[in-house]
Amino acid sequence: MDLILRNGVKIPEIGFGTSLIEGEECINNIRQALETGYRHIDTASVYRNEKEIGKAIKESGIKREEIFITSKVWKDSMGYENTMNSFNNSLQNLQLDYIDLFLIHWPKNIDKQLNIETWKALEDLYKTKKVRAIGVSNFLKHHLEIILENCEIAPMIDQLEYHPGLTRPETIQFCKENDIIVEAWAPLGKGSMLQNEDLIRIAKKYNKSVAQLCIRWCLQNEIIPLPKTTNLTRMAENRDVFDFTIDKQDMLFINNMELFASSTMNPNEFGDKK
Ligand code: A2P
Repeated sequence: MDLILRNGVKIPEIGFGTSLIEGEECINNIRQALETGYRHIDTASVYRNEKEIGKAIKESGIKREEIFITSKVWKDSMGYENTMNSFNNSLQNLQLDYIDLFLIHWPKNIDKQLNIETWKALEDLYKTKKVRAIGVSNFLKHHLEIILENCEIAPMIDQLEYHPGLTRPETIQFCKENDIIVEAWAPLGKGSMLQNEDLIRIAKKYNKSVAQLCIRWCLQNEIIPLPKTTNLTRMAENRDVFDFTIDKQDMLFINNMELFASSTMNPNEFGDKK
C-alpha cells in the first residue's frame, strides 16, 4: 500500500533503512530486500552506501519507477551550492536520473540561515524535477516553523527517530496540521524495543513479534516505518503486518509508554567525515 504526499506523489508505506551497512554486505542486503518486496529504500550521502544501493537496484531489473528512493544531504554539505553538489554526487552514486525524495539530514541549531539556504536548493531541485518530493529529517517543531515561514514549497516529509517511548507529540501534531507526512527511523529503537516486557505481552496477544507490533503501531499512527535488518527472514517478518489490527486500548497504551531510553539519537554517529 502507498500513502500520498501533498503533491500527489505515492510513497510505499513501509521503507527499508540502510544506515551502517556498507560494501558487499549492502549490495546483498538491498538485493534481498528488493526480492522480499521492499520498494522504498532510504539512504543518505553520509551512509556511504549509495553506490552499492545503485548497483543492487540496477542489477535487480526492477523498473526504476517501481522503486522509491530517498537520499539526504549531510550536515557538512549544507548551503545552496554545497547542497547542489551533494545532490549531484548522490545522483551519480546511485546511477539515477532522479531521486524520489531528498531530505536535509539534520537541522543546524545555531546557524538557522543555513537551514533556509539549504532548503532553497531543495526547492530548486524540485522545480527542475530532479526530485519528486522534498523534506527534512530530525527537524523538530521549531526548526520546521522557520522553514515554513521562509519557504515557497513546504516540506512534504519529516523523518524522525520514532518508536514506543519516543513519540514526539508536539512535532508530530505540527506535521499533521501542516500536511507533512512523518517517517520513523529506528522504529524498533535500534532493536532495543524487542526486550520490552509490555511490548512482548501485547505482541503475544496478536500472535505477532514485537518488531511487527512496533511497525504496525507506526502504520496505525499514519507514520511510515523504515525498519532495518540484515536478515532475510526478518525482512519478510517486518512486512508481514497487514493481517492484524492493534486495538484502541493497546494503541493508547503504547502511545503513552514512557521508556527510560528516551532517545538513541546521536547526530555524531557518522562523525564529521564527508
Ligand atoms: P538484524 O539486522 O540482526 O535483524 P531499527 O530498525 O529500529 O534501527 O532496528 C534495527 C535493529 O533491529 C537491528 O539490530 C536488527 O538486527 C534488529 N531487527 C530488525 N528487525 C528485526 C526483527 N524482526 N526481529 C528481531 N530483530 C530485528
